[in-house]
Amino acid sequence: MPSEKSVYLPNPSVAKNAFVSSFAQYQEMYQKSIDNPEEFWGEIAKQFYWETPIDINSFFRYNFDIRKGPIYTKWLDGATTNIAYNLLDRNVKNGFGDKVAFYWEGNHPDDYSRLTYKKLLEEVCRFANVLRSKGVKKGDRVAVYMPMILEAVITLLGCARIGAVHSLVFAGFSADSFAERILDCEARVLVTADGVWRGEKLLSLKNICDQSMNKCAQKGHNVKTCIVVSHLGRVTSPSGVQKNRNNKTPMQEGRDVWWHDIVPQASTDCVPEWVQAEDPLFMLYTSGSTGKPKGVVHTTAGYLLYAATTFKYVFDYKPNDVYWCTADIGWITGHTYVVYGPLANCATSVLYEGTPFYPNNDRFWLVVKKYKVNQFYTAPTAIRALMKFEDDLVKRVDLSSLKVLGSVGEPINPEAWMWYYKLVGREKCSIVDTFWQTETGGHVLTPLPGATPMKPGAAAFPFFGVQPALLDESGNEIKGEGEGYLVFARPWPGIMRTLYNNHPRYETTYFSKFPGYYCTGDGARRDADGYLWVTGRVDDMLNVSGHLMSTAEVESVLTEHPNVAEAAVVAKPHPVKGECLYCFITTTDTTRFDDKLLTELKQLVRERIGPFAQPDVVQNAPALPKTRSGKIMRRILRKVAVNDRDVGDVSTLADSHVVEELFASRPVNA
Ligand code: WTA
Repeated sequence: MPSEKSVYLPNPSVAKNAFVSSFAQYQEMYQKSIDNPEEFWGEIAKQFYWETPIDINSFFRYNFDIRKGPIYTKWLDGATTNIAYNLLDRNVKNGFGDKVAFYWEGNHPDDYSRLTYKKLLEEVCRFANVLRSKGVKKGDRVAVYMPMILEAVITLLGCARIGAVHSLVFAGFSADSFAERILDCEARVLVTADGVWRGEKLLSLKNICDQSMNKCAQKGHNVKTCIVVSHLGRVTSPSGVQKNRNNKTPMQEGRDVWWHDIVPQASTDCVPEWVQAEDPLFMLYTSGSTGKPKGVVHTTAGYLLYAATTFKYVFDYKPNDVYWCTADIGWITGHTYVVYGPLANCATSVLYEGTPFYPNNDRFWLVVKKYKVNQFYTAPTAIRALMKFEDDLVKRVDLSSLKVLGSVGEPINPEAWMWYYKLVGREKCSIVDTFWQTETGGHVLTPLPGATPMKPGAAAFPFFGVQPALLDESGNEIKGEGEGYLVFARPWPGIMRTLYNNHPRYETTYFSKFPGYYCTGDGARRDADGYLWVTGRVDDMLNVSGHLMSTAEVESVLTEHPNVAEAAVVAKPHPVKGECLYCFITTTDTTRFDDKLLTELKQLVRERIGPFAQPDVVQNAPALPKTRSGKIMRRILRKVAVNDRDVGDVSTLADSHVVEELFASRPVNA
């Protein structure tokens, strides 16, 4: 395996034509972005359309220091624009109306379609008009629970066109989770589909939405309109049944309407709503370490600039390239790098509905070949899952179109990196290990494909405009080599502006630990060459297959069970998922810890949060290791989870026998 010293140079054929073709050029551009952000981003802003022009005097203002007053960031304040106009009308006016915006590839290989920029614009206008006719106005939130279909893109941009704020929830979240999010953002309109096939599994999305809407109604919040795409009827099911329009989907009179009954009839003329640069574009929930999800708010102009610029440089996207990001649209990666970034660059992308394993484990490679994909962007968890199958599945497919391979969502281990580099990239592609967060809006640490010598597992260097720092526990900056808290010293255009309806939580979560800095919650190490290596979360968060969740969130679900007195959850390393959940359960006095309880607990987590949060291990813990003041010592539980008896100092424990008992009673599957 490569040591830290292994360095892989960008392939000369990638570097030769790249936007940034040497490390020196990267450094020069980076310095300019730091020294003169107005000039750097001002040049980029010129490519876009501003209804009210940019005022250079109020181009960039911020306060990152809580001691000096409220935290805020403003880019291009005073300018007005519309992001859908910039993504669609502008490209069509520039003569790219017939260019393919999306190749849609269905779950079943027989299902595929495409959408040009002109057609996408028409559909977005239609849908935007429908939203207006349903009373949706600028600033209103629209909840979205959609599979990977073209209507999902149309929905987002339809909202953007009229200044409505979309709030997507990943369609793997449970009805409870979705309801909680609808209530929090007070959405009156919901957009979904009847269902979707993922591999051989059918997900009945509308049924889940019905449960969510019922739960909301019980709490006094009524969704007024639910627009439903009839999708199942136009796709091939795994058993091969075609065009079997699903009429079983229950529709509530007066509230639920089929997309096909209202959208095709609507006009394709829709005047965009010119919004302020700092008006919200969308919100997206992410897990908070205290349990309640946080509604991260992104605004218009800065997000546009940042999505567009990161996409262009990090993937080195050229006009005739075909790009494919496998992320679900329900995550930030789907927002920035399936929808906004590619369209801002007039790119052609693949939008894939299915899984890497259907109908066979070579589906990703076959799709790359089919569309001659040049940039492929996926997650380490997918790479690790695919590595398990025979190499021949990859080797036998012509992947010569590939130029840039991206990774996102969690640290990529060197083994997975090497496999990606050798098998998929044939040692000719650049790998971009992109570190970022829902909160950052776009990539913040990343190599550039033509410029940065790669080190397997290092997110390398900051993107333009981003100023990272490593801090020690007392907030002193670690210069040179060392490890510490990863923070950022100033805002870049794409950083989130607030948490929905909760600016105080925004300030305490991200800006109070180290005044003057945005705190990521991740740790990182700087090596002797200045490369940054993200080491993972430093707070009580877990990253399961790239899905971030908090231990508190899972614990509070487990303790809802009447037979559970106490629960503690820790992350355990997992070969494919990166991390998995290891739960310790103390039952109430009289309750036996048995298979029934185990099944119920797993079911409860699936229901409350979603299937991806299901614990891998649940251990009976008659007592938990606690300090004398009653604080659970998770450090010790993490050791139990990996069966490492080197637990360190236990002198602060109230009862040290507890630890022995936990090691002795680890379940067989642990
Ligand atoms: C982790 C996903 C290491 C990190 C875009 C971060 C990574 C969290 C990487 C955000 C990477 C993401 N290397 N860790 N390349 N990318 N992470 O909000 O812990 O779903 O804080 O955004 O994922 O997850 P989120």
